[in-house]
Amino acid sequence: MPDSSKHVLLVEDEAALRQAVAEQLADRGYQVEQVESGEHAVARLTDFAFDIIITDLRLPGIDGSAVLEAAVDRYPEIIAIVVTGYGTVKDAVEAIKRGAWDFVSKPFQIDELLHVLDAALEQRRLKSENAYLRAQLEERYQFSGIVGKSRPMARLFQLLETVASTSSTILISGETGTGKEVVARAIHHNSPRRQQRFVALNCSAIPETLLEAELFGHVRGAFTGAVGTRQGRLEQAHKGTLFLDEVGTMSAALQMKLLRVLQEREFERIGDSHTIKVDVRVIAATNSDLARMVAAGTFREDLFYRLNVIPVELPPLRDRKEDIPLLVQHFLERLAQESAKPAKPTERGAKAMTERTITVSQEAMRKLMAFHWPGNVRQLENAVERAVAFSAGRSQIDVGDLPAEVQQAQEAVAQPTVALPDEGLDLDEFISNVERELIQRSLERTGGNKGQAAKLLNLKRTTLVEKLKRLDRA
Ligand SMILES: Nc1ncnc2c1ncn2[C@@H]1O[C@H](COP(=O)(O)OP(=O)(O)OP(=O)(O)O)[C@@H](O)[C@H]1O
Ligand SMILES: [Mg+2]
Repeated sequence: MPDSSKHVLLVEDEAALRQAVAEQLADRGYQVEQVESGEHAVARLTDFAFDIIITDLRLPGIDGSAVLEAAVDRYPEIIAIVVTGYGTVKDAVEAIKRGAWDFVSKPFQIDELLHVLDAALEQRRLKSENAYLRAQLEERYQFSGIVGKSRPMARLFQLLETVASTSSTILISGETGTGKEVVARAIHHNSPRRQQRFVALNCSAIPETLLEAELFGHVRGAFTGAVGTRQGRLEQAHKGTLFLDEVGTMSAALQMKLLRVLQEREFERIGDSHTIKVDVRVIAATNSDLARMVAAGTFREDLFYRLNVIPVELPPLRDRKEDIPLLVQHFLERLAQESAKPAKPTERGAKAMTERTITVSQEAMRKLMAFHWPGNVRQLENAVERAVAFSAGRSQIDVGDLPAEVQQAQEAVAQPTVALPDEGLDLDEFISNVERELIQRSLERTGGNKGQAAKLLNLKRTTLVEKLKRLDRA
């Protein structure tokens, strides 16, 4: 359906025809602009993004194919329809090769043109709708390789989409293995800085004195061992992104220096007085609670606020169990892809091997979902990799292929029946009490019949009698 927002550029040198077509289009709600030459058409195209261009192929001066080219080069989404002379199908075919949507031949009925236009608009609408739906689907489950469809992850993707395009400082917090680094990289790769470098520095992996040199660089002789002049990570990240991992482990002295960088965007190499200006986006990550560290006085409050411009919190995996099947699938696919690049691709049988798609039994999946994953996604990734190795040859991963601690996970159906009191308890005594109570109840229910009571408790009669004796003694 044409609507008033559709702008048409109509290029036709025959004034009467042009006028007639323009009126018909206007009647149907199109916004029509008429030009009588190729020169004028090209000029108009430079400053207005028409939705549709209808151009005669044969024009004096710049001809219709040049106009068409100017239109589709500039606006790949424009709908271009060419009008050809009678019997010049060859020209029409040529035009379509150059990006025209369709053509009509002179003389034509206005209805013919309108029909072509309607069809084009409808197809364009479907195409963009599909693209939109596709984008939405992809968005929901994935953002640059970060998988997840749980609510916290969907919210995260939305946030990432918004903040990626800015240069704001971001503080990512989350337990170990929750994906802080993947998120940092995803932000960089979706930002206008993506062509520049992503420079990572793990503040906890390097001794304090070296860390400063890593960050700021140094000149020759700045300290023992500084044999040459070296660029620091800050300089390397110029115009790009600097990822400061484990920022909570920085010493007080270094915190102060980092604060200055964030405030002034300038610093000096160690041993140098020359001030260097940098344009870096800083993304910091921490698995400790920086706010708590501020309260405890171990992290500078002003630095915390400078870093925490946009907080991104990654929830632990146990709080988003619904992502587990998706992540498992993701890792299985990745492993399959990796093994699909065999060392000797010509080797027979290699193909058969790699085409094997491994699945996970429901029982194993229940265990995977029941486990509390203290190491989060990284631990899950390792468990999947291990299970694939253990499943050697079989097409399904089973409970037995999982790490022991995962096999022992209590599935959600088993609700905790007893609470552990704050002050603790005596386990043996507690269990004796439970035992005594259940035996008494079973005897009551069976009118004191020890045989039947034992059956109720899945015990041998002799075992029940023994237990009764022991409990009486206790
Ligand atoms: N949502 C996710 N989708 C896919 N892979 C993920 C996701 N989250 C984490 N991973 C994978 O898990 C592993 C750990 O992620 P990452 O190194 O980013 O964690 P981290 O939070 O930086 O951990 P640490 O605090 O231990 O440094 C990586 O191999 C990463 O690819
Ligand atoms: Mg990390």
